[in-house]
Amino acid sequence: MFTKMQDGTLEDWAVIGAAHKEHFYKTPAHLMDMLRSLEEITAGFACDQLQHSLMTGTLARRDNASDEEVAIALLHDVGKSVNIPNHGPIAAELMRPYVSDDAYHVIYNHQHFQGKFYYSFMGENPNMRDDFTHNSWYPLAVKLVDRWDAPAFDPEFEVDSLESFEPLLQEIFSQPGRTL
Ligand SMILES: [Fe+2]
Repeated sequence: MFTKMQDGTLEDWAVIGAAHKEHFYKTPAHLMDMLRSLEEITAGFACDQLQHSLMTGTLARRDNASDEEVAIALLHDVGKSVNIPNHGPIAAELMRPYVSDDAYHVIYNHQHFQGKFYYSFMGENPNMRDDFTHNSWYPLAVKLVDRWDAPAFDPEFEVDSLESFEPLLQEIFSQPGRTL
């Protein structure tokens, strides 16, 4: 096996290609681990971010949301396991190969929709969501944020377990994903 990519051969790349394939199917397990790690982040809210994520996903599920809507509700804040200020774009890019374009844009921009409830406290425009009214994904962003995300900070709410969402993550995120 080469030690510099410049020296790679067809045989090297056949070995590497085969070894890569087993990793293509680990995305659901990685997403579960990232969600689990959110239990360590409370960031001043009444509940930790795992409870918040599970409550958001549970509210979507009980609202007869589609499978993709439940999945993005559960995962909308998963980017916080990497970085809080950029968590929307991080989560959106993680999910992009597996979800619709509308779902991607909803996750990418969801913080500006939440801003309706707190941007005014920080000297920012709380109506930033109005910039997006012409987009096809605007109604889904409003639904996700107003019905499932914004109400989901109750530490006492009996959420569905993380494990109960695993089959859904397996369904949506098991394939290698389309090429970007
Ligand atoms: Fe959230």
